[in-house]
Amino acid sequence: MRIAVVGTGYVGLVVGACLAESGNDVICVDTDKKKVADLRKGEVQIYEPGLEELVRRNMAKRRLEFTTNLEKAVQESLLVFVAVGTPPQPDGSVDMSAVSGVATSIGKAVNGYKIIITKSTVPVGTTRKLQATMSTLSRHKIALVSNPEFLKEGKAVEDFMKPDRVVLGVDDPSAAEIMKELYAPFVRTENPILVMDFESAEMTKYASNAFLATRISFINEIAALCEHVGADVESVRKGMGADNRIGYAFLFPGVGYGGSCFPKDVKALIKVAEDCGCNLRIAKAVEDVNVLQRDLFVSKIRHHFVDLAGKTIAVWGLAFKPETDDVRDAPAITVIESLLTHGAAVRVHDPKALAAGRAAFGERVEFSTDPYAALENADAMALITEWSEFRNPDFERMKLLMKTPVVFDGRNIYNPAKLRQLGFTYYGIGRA
Ligand SMILES: NC(=O)c1ccc[n+]([C@@H]2O[C@H](COP(=O)([O-])OP(=O)(O)OC[C@H]3O[C@@H](n4cnc5c(N)ncnc54)[C@H](O)[C@@H]3O)[C@@H](O)[C@H]2O)c1
Repeated sequence: MRIAVVGTGYVGLVVGACLAESGNDVICVDTDKKKVADLRKGEVQIYEPGLEELVRRNMAKRRLEFTTNLEKAVQESLLVFVAVGTPPQPDGSVDMSAVSGVATSIGKAVNGYKIIITKSTVPVGTTRKLQATMSTLSRHKIALVSNPEFLKEGKAVEDFMKPDRVVLGVDDPSAAEIMKELYAPFVRTENPILVMDFESAEMTKYASNAFLATRISFINEIAALCEHVGADVESVRKGMGADNRIGYAFLFPGVGYGGSCFPKDVKALIKVAEDCGCNLRIAKAVEDVNVLQRDLFVSKIRHHFVDLAGKTIAVWGLAFKPETDDVRDAPAITVIESLLTHGAAVRVHDPKALAAGRAAFGERVEFSTDPYAALENADAMALITEWSEFRNPDFERMKLLMKTPVVFDGRNIYNPAKLRQLGFTYYGIGRA
């Protein structure tokens, strides 16, 4: 099939490359001229495992190309995916300007039957509105499809290639059949393609993210209680997760969730509910706990030192999770900002996100390309992103490098007894 993907960010580029990999002819569109120029050279400016190879392979096979010309891309394609950003606004509502602008441009460019697919996460009701708007802009038949994306950054290619499920919100049976044909190569192990109405598909995305965020905030709240009552949340988590009805996923205590999706999608869900007179009590509590979780982590550091002025804290991990360079709403950003406000000097190492960190902090933070160099003469180390390479460091070397061997483990990846035996002062999350 001939496909256009509008927006070549974390989602659009993965969608475009994976659809090309299954034999489709894909043209990716972006307004960012530099990004398109880099992609045309096979250079991917974000870090996502396997993505650059996939892009290069499909470009070489001439199944994947890049352009800034949306009109041409739409006119040459049967399917048009919209994967532009939907960032949050200060009141929690979604900034729909990119989606609306793209929809208008697509509507004007349409030159025959097209299926327009909303891949961006959009508030419930958006796909139906877009259908109405586009129909007024074109005399050709346009079928809208809501096809929310569930990929995780860091595993995006794998998730797209083998999705747990594909959700399709449709109004037009022939568009549903074409979409099922498109996704058939990705669900060969019989993972379901679930066809539903527009609104249910849009709501499925928000409800899924809010539910996963709920699990994280729940275990974080239990972790805080564990510290008061003398329980170890790591034992509690294992005891809970072993129950088949509960499971282990998204039940890891830490410094809270971050990234470009959970925080904004929970906020958007709360706002959508408020706009129609509903009060989402659980979602509000999930957000409150998440904000508090970052503060609690900094409080532990402040409590240990009493005064952070003149202290140097080495931070391991900037990205909002391992295997990505994405620092959008990353807990590390909030934690570092707070440490700086309280007078600490901060030295940061992250395997992939240093460039993004430099853009966020400039000269206010020292950046280190080596994790051990970041520790030199530091008063403490704060682990915020659980990259694999941080899991088994050379603790003896760390101790020799640091001024005082104090570890604040924001992801509970270290063994407290082992660290204490080695002479470290250890603080975890929810470990009495
Ligand atoms: N990042 C994730 O893990 C993830 C997962 C699932 C869903 N989503 C959703 O997917 C959408 C995209 O997210 P993302 O993380 O890829 O965003 P992103 O910011 O990484 O990428 C958006 C891209 O769209 C481009 N763009 C903006 N306006 C444009 C226009 N008018 N025409 C063409 N291109 C334009 C930007 O230049 C950018 O390259 C969002 O709605 C997000 O909520 C994201």
